[in-house]
This record gives sequence, structure tokens and C-alpha cells, in this order.
Amino acid sequence: MAENSNTWVNPLRDPLDKRLPRIAGPSGMVIFGVTGDLAHKKLLPAIYDLANRGLLPAGFTLVGFGRREWSKQDFEAYVRDAVEAGARTRFQEHVWQRLSEGMQFVTGAFNDDASFDKLAATLAEADEFRGTGGNWAYYLSIPPSNFADVVNQLERTGLAEAPENSWRRVIIEKPFGDNLESAHELNAIVNRVFPESSVYRIDHYLGKETVQNILALRFSNQLFEPLWNANNIDHVQITMAEDIGLGGRAGYYDGIGAARDVIQNHLIQLLALVAMEEPLNFSPRSLRAEKLKVLRATTPVEPLSKTTARGQYTAGWQGSKKVPGLRDEEGFDPNSTTETFAACTLKINSRRWAGVPFYLRTGKRLGRRVTEIALVFKEAPYQPFDEGQTGSLGNNAVVIRIQPDEGVLMRFGSKVPGSTMEVRDVNMDFSYSEAFTEESPEAYERLILDALLEDTSLFPTNAEVERSWEILDPIIEHWHSNGRPDEYEAGTWGPQSADDMLAKDGRVWRRP
Ligand code: BG6
Repeated sequence: MAENSNTWVNPLRDPLDKRLPRIAGPSGMVIFGVTGDLAHKKLLPAIYDLANRGLLPAGFTLVGFGRREWSKQDFEAYVRDAVEAGARTRFQEHVWQRLSEGMQFVTGAFNDDASFDKLAATLAEADEFRGTGGNWAYYLSIPPSNFADVVNQLERTGLAEAPENSWRRVIIEKPFGDNLESAHELNAIVNRVFPESSVYRIDHYLGKETVQNILALRFSNQLFEPLWNANNIDHVQITMAEDIGLGGRAGYYDGIGAARDVIQNHLIQLLALVAMEEPLNFSPRSLRAEKLKVLRATTPVEPLSKTTARGQYTAGWQGSKKVPGLRDEEGFDPNSTTETFAACTLKINSRRWAGVPFYLRTGKRLGRRVTEIALVFKEAPYQPFDEGQTGSLGNNAVVIRIQPDEGVLMRFGSKVPGSTMEVRDVNMDFSYSEAFTEESPEAYERLILDALLEDTSLFPTNAEVERSWEILDPIIEHWHSNGRPDEYEAGTWGPQSADDMLAKDGRVWRRP
């Protein structure tokens, strides 16, 4: 799916044979922020998993950059610890040996010329002795306030510029700003040095198999797409619920909140995939064009005082464990007004979706961890049954379960066995783990590999990111000028205002 011509092509790969894996060509990666939580939990294990699956080139070189005074051995020990704790695949000594041989650590600060000169020398050496071929991905797993320093240093040292027949790419972690204006500024900082085609913005939800399955479900079947519109669908609910709290994440989360953390990126991307028109093909350009088109047609439903809700968790019970409220979590301002639950109603101004509300919600410390998209159908126009026969019948629904219990569920009415005609809801359930024996790769495995292979399909563009802020900014501004978030007890499904938001439309949230 790569669009440029300098993609490395595996000469052994028959393009028609889907069983042969896509293997990255000669390359290396520098991680800025390698001592951070994300790198330890997700990035380093994913790199090992890719190596273990044979998808990285033999000379793959991983370079860490950070303030610690670490030797190569210290860095190796740190990575090994992360891999043993977090890798999805089995630990194999020979894979580890090969991967760790190429590891290097460069000590330094993001604004220090000498450290970046050292980094440049380290990469040049790898190009000479490890066959990385001048192909480098720079992973910025750092706060946006450090982007300018790093990007400017990469420019100053010539590391941003690819020598002939090689490439330089930058992979960026969210948050991409905290409103339209700051996103715009960040994009300008990055795009001044790296052309948009070399920028890979990570939204790890797009790396999930079940998210990619939205496209397969919609566009490879005849069953769903004819019904996928305002004639048949009453409303759509997109839920990302987490049972974890925010202990340990105050530094990032306080002042940011659930809407910016999750709705602006993951949930709006899910909406785009569920609502977009069929792309011409699955090239990055076609896919991104359709996503942007539907996002341009998406706006919040007014009045925001009734169509949105936000909350903050208070102490409560998570299963058998007593948990503190947000304002008692370590590091949070005791007067914090940061929302840990956010819900909003969006509409899509198009023929396909006219009049269909899209309800989005996310929260921490909710009843259980689940991410799903539910398309709830209209009632059948006529029921030739007595009221008593269909009394407990709900609306038909297609539910795409992103996680856990990945799969797709359909809910419809069925006759209850017996001598009377009683119709009740039943579920037809497709489960990934039952249908396929192979375990799904982690989102970060897929995305890191795609970035090395120059496949940009699963990375949101600058325009998508900015459009998402345009959708969300009025909601956040409305909240900021309207007091504190409501409260909800940990372990419940959010504040009363979230239920009221749907009740006023005669609807209820699903309790997954
Ligand atoms: C991240 C958010 O993007 O996604 C976190 O910053 C959240 O707050 C996480 O916990 C959830 O990811 P997943 O893959 O576990 O659903």
C-alpha cells in the first residue's frame, strides 16, 4: 500500500501469496523518551515481538536517547526487563541476542548540541557497520513541549534529511496539542522539518485488528452496507470504558481530561471508520480522503448543556477493592476539575446519516473495561404481534466489540420455545478467539512495522487531527465556562447527566 517508490520490496515475496509476511527492509529506530511508561510497556515489547516474528531486518538497530548516564549494557538490561514483562510472544535467547547486539544508548538533553552530534555519529556508525542503509525512524514518545527542540536538533545535525535512496521518518505520539490552535502550532513545528509524507502520527486504536475489521465487515459483505444508513439506523453508541483509575498519571492527565485524552483521537477515528463512505481502494490516500470527508461533515449537536455530559469519579468499589476518588489520587490537585468521564452527541451532515445521533462516551473507573460500537436499528415499521408477545423486545443491533472479547454481535428477536408466540431478544455472536487460532498482534507491532514499511494507511493525517479538534473544541470551551464536572462513584457507569443526555431523546446507554 506504499505510495512512494523507495519502499524496500522483499524479493522473496510473491505479491499474491498473503501468507508471506511483510518484512521491514534495512533500518533502525531512535526512541526519544525511551525511559517513559509507554516505551517500557508498549514500544520495547512490540519491537521484540516483531523481531521474534522475523519481521525486522537482520541489522535492525535500536537507539535510546535520554538523560540517564547509561552504558550500552545498562540500556540492554532496561530493554530486556521491559520485554520480559510486556512481550506478547515467547522470550527466545537467540532472538534477544541478535536484537540486543545492535542496541545503543546516547545520553543527553533535548536541547544539547553535543548529545545530538553524538547521536549523529552513532547512526553513521550503524549505517556503516550494521547495514541500516541510512533509513531511520525517530520515535517521539515525549511531551509536545519538547518537539521543537528535538526536531530542530534533527535538522541541525542533518539527521532529518535522507541521503539518496534512503529515508527518514518521524513517528509522533499523542497528544497532538490540546486544542485546534496548539495542534496547528505543533504540526507547523514538525512539518517545517519533515514533509507530511514522512510524519506518522500514532493513534494506537487504528492498529487494533478489530478496528481494521470495521472496514472488512462493512465493505466485503453484502449483508450490512445496504442497511448502514439513516433509513434503518436509529442511533450509534461508541463506548470506551475503562475500569482503571488515574493513579500515577497525574502529570499527563490533570488538566487534560477524558475528552482530549480519548474522544479527540480514538473515538472520533472510530466514528470516521463506521460512518465514512466506501473508499475507492485501500491505499492510504483513498482511505484518508474518505475519513476526512466524513469528519468535515461531523459537528456537535446543540444545545451542549443537554447533549454532552462530563464527570469525575469519587471513591467507590471496583469489584472487591475500595478505590480512591480522583482528587485523592497521588499527584492530582485536590480541587482538580479534570473530567474522567466525557460524553457527547455528534451528527453527520450527509444524506446517509441525516438525523442519526452518534453518542460517544468514555470514562475511567467505570463498571468494566470494554470498547464497542453499537449500531442500534429503528423498530420494525409494523409488528403483527400483540403487545404482550413482544413486550420485552428491544431494537435490533449490530455491535462491533473492539475489546476485550473481540468480535461482532447481532441482536434480533426470536420466538421463545413454547406454545405461545412470545418474541424476545437473542444474540448471535462472532468471536475472534473462536474463529481464528492465531492471536492478534498488538496494535504497536502493526503500527511500528507499517511505519518502517512506509505504509501510512493507519496513521491519521494532520488534517484529520486538526478537524477532530474543531469538532471537540466548542464542547470543551462550553464545559470550561460552566462550572465543575458532575460526580460519579467509581465502579458505576458515569454521572446521572450522561443517562439524562440519552433519556431526553427517549434512549438508553447499553450496559455492556
Ligand atoms: C490511551 C489513553 O491513548 O489509551 C489512556 O491515553 C487509555 O488514558 C489508553 O488508558 C487505553 O488503551 P487500550 O488500548 O488499553 O484501550
